[in-house]
This record gives sequence, C-alpha cells and structure tokens, in this order.
Amino acid sequence: MAGVLGLAACGGSGGGGGQAAQSSAATGGGKQQVEVFSWWTGPGEADGLQAMKKIFEERNPNYTFFDAAVAGGSGDKAKALLQSKLQADTPPDTFQGHAGAELQGYIKAGDLEDLTFLYDELKLKDVFPAQLVDQISVQGKIYSVPVNIHRSNVLWFNPKVLKEAGVAAAPTTIEEFVADLEKVKAKGKIPLSVGSEWTVTHLLENVLLGTLGTDAYNALFKPGADWNSPQVAKALENFKTILSYAGDPQDDWQPAAKQVADGQAAFTIMGDWAYGYFHNPPEGGLGKKSKEDFDWAPAPGTGGTYLWLSDSFTLPKGAKNRDGAIAWLKVAASKEGQDAFNPKKGSIPARKDADQSLYTDYLADALKDWSSDKLAGSIQHGVSVSQPWLAAINEAVGLFIAGKDVAALQKALAVAAQANAQ
Ligand code: GAL
Repeated sequence: MAGVLGLAACGGSGGGGGQAAQSSAATGGGKQQVEVFSWWTGPGEADGLQAMKKIFEERNPNYTFFDAAVAGGSGDKAKALLQSKLQADTPPDTFQGHAGAELQGYIKAGDLEDLTFLYDELKLKDVFPAQLVDQISVQGKIYSVPVNIHRSNVLWFNPKVLKEAGVAAAPTTIEEFVADLEKVKAKGKIPLSVGSEWTVTHLLENVLLGTLGTDAYNALFKPGADWNSPQVAKALENFKTILSYAGDPQDDWQPAAKQVADGQAAFTIMGDWAYGYFHNPPEGGLGKKSKEDFDWAPAPGTGGTYLWLSDSFTLPKGAKNRDGAIAWLKVAASKEGQDAFNPKKGSIPARKDADQSLYTDYLADALKDWSSDKLAGSIQHGVSVSQPWLAAINEAVGLFIAGKDVAALQKALAVAAQANAQ
C-alpha cells in the first residue's frame, strides 16, 4: 500500500430498537443473541452481511445473529440512533464504524473496549496494513476490526448510453466530464444520477479531489488548512457545474445507481458498494452484466488515487453479550469471513492474505489499484473528518443544493474546518 492511509426498517431477523433491547437474552433453544448493528439492509448491502452471518452461526452454534441494522445508505440514520444508544448506556453488542476520524470520536468518548488482546491472540497486526491499524488506534491501543476497504472515487456509467451520446471513452478530467454530461443532456437522458443528500456530499469529495489533486486534498484536513483558497473556489464552481446536470434526487444510492444500470442515466459517482448491487444476482442485486450494462473508471481527475474508506466492527463498553460480540469480531477478522463478505459487498478485503482469485472483474481492478495508488481519505465515510465536522459539511451542502451559492458554501466549509480540524 502506497502513501499514508491517510430510523426505519430493520433487516434480516427483523425488529428495531425495542426488540434490540432483548437481543442478548437467551432465546427458546438456549441460544444467546448477538446484536450486530450496521446499516446494511438494502439491496447490494445486505448480501455481504448475510454471508458473514452464515459463517458466524456455523462456527457458533450457541449464538444467533440478531440483525439490528437501520436502513439508510452511508449510515446517517443508523449513526444517529447509535449515538442515543451509546448515551443511554444500552449499546449493541457490536457496531459498524468507519476507520479514521469517525472511529477516533468513539474511542475518545470512551465508548469502545481496547481490542489489543484480540489482535495478539489472532496475530492480526501481521495481516492488516500497518497504516490501517493506525487509523483505528489511539496511544497504541487498537479499537476495531476492519472488514474491508471500499473505494469512494468510482465513476459508474452505462456504456450504451455513452455510445448513443457519442462519448467514446470514460472522461478522465473534470473538463472532459462536463463536456460528456452536456452530450448526454443533448440526447435527452439523465446525465448524472444522484440520491439523497449524502450522495451529494459524496460527489463533493470526489470533485474536490479531482480538482485539487491528492496532496492539496489531503492537506484540507490538517489544522490551519486553507479552505478559502482560489483552488477550493474553483473546485466548488466545478461542483456547481456538475450538479447542474443531476437528475431528480432519488431516495438513496440504490435507485440512483439503478437509473444508470437501466439506461435512464449515463453516470453516477458512487462508492464501490454499487458494484455489489449491479453485479449480485437478483433479489440481493440487479444481476446486470459488467461492461455491457455498467462500466467503471476513476472519478474524473482522480485516476491514480484511491479515495478510500473502511468498515470496521467494534466492541462497545457494556456490551450485554460481550463473548458473543468477540465471536462476531473473530469472524469479521478471519480470512474466511472477509472472503465471504467482500466479493458480495463490492469491496476488497482489509486482510493482506485474502484469496485473490475470488476478486474478479471490477474487484480485480480495485485490488490492483489499492496496491499501487496514492491514498486520500473519504469525507462522507468517516476517514478524514469527525462526525461533528461531517454534520457541518452536510448542512452546508444541504443549503447549497437549495441556494447554489458557491461563496456561501465555501465560507461554511471554511468555518466548519476551523471549528473542527485537530
Ligand atoms: C458507507 C459504508 C459502505 C456502504 C455505503 C452505502 O458509509 O462504508 O459499507 O454501506 O455507506 O450505504
């Protein structure tokens, strides 16, 4: 790895906050439930979790997996509920948290147990990249188990729609991208599909990286960074231009991605969880044909950089079924668990010793790029900014969607950085 690493439906077994409260109670058969909290309920997301659940239940006949997932891409709703559970000292047995600034917040708040004992027992320091372990550590103690590496900066496109519009190849620069969006518009198709508000922040991080380049992007998260610069202004102008080609916002990332797969829209910029959704067989996914129904390239201007994020699982202090949670973490940490989860999730394993033959098609490209690209940390998915900082960015983006005022957006982003960079 190059560079510096840097409230709705419930899934599977059903239930919500109320049922979650009894999650670690013994069930009828004398089995104990393990409450696993995530936001992987939707098509393309739940498949990976189910694959890991299967292994967990096979390995642990005395436990049942209790799916406490809260719907909503990127976990905005889940994280709000989680916060209230942590504050009320009723944590789930284990929860999904992003490596980086997001996890550091939970660690500093004293919400998590140190997992060094598990790292020692399973020799995990040997199998995870050192820079990744750094993102989930404070003062030498390690607080979560990373299950994957996702890529944020993927431009997904429908090759047939591009062809109809006379676009010969995926755009590699922002200028080419804007020209291509215009060509698609002229053909009457949706140039760019977007989902709920967080997907627009996701687009923003990609346009910032694509405009500023990797080093200047990474510098934005250091104390004293200059968000008022003309370069950031240029990036935000690009963002405004690109956003002017967006179709009607869809409810979440899946319906936005589906517009591309179905040929209604040409492009969407989304993380590689979209691959699981496009590619997985129907029920879980769309069962679409790679390179025919959908194709991919680095988001414009970001080739050679992996805008990364990583999902990890934790052991909250006061977990009711602590042993069950540790059993879950062991599966999440294992080669078998990661190799079952990631090909379905559309991510590459966090472990360095995974079975590479399982990662084909898009995922083979991802593995290759991960080993050679420069790294930049995602904003929307917890790497570069803390949760309060992200909340301020999301609010600024929300106002921007309504008012399209670049100067106001830049000012709000600068204020958010000043208040939150550490
Ligand atoms: C990210 C998460 C991914 C995926 C995505 C869309 O924050 O890390 O695993 O679930 O949200 O929901």
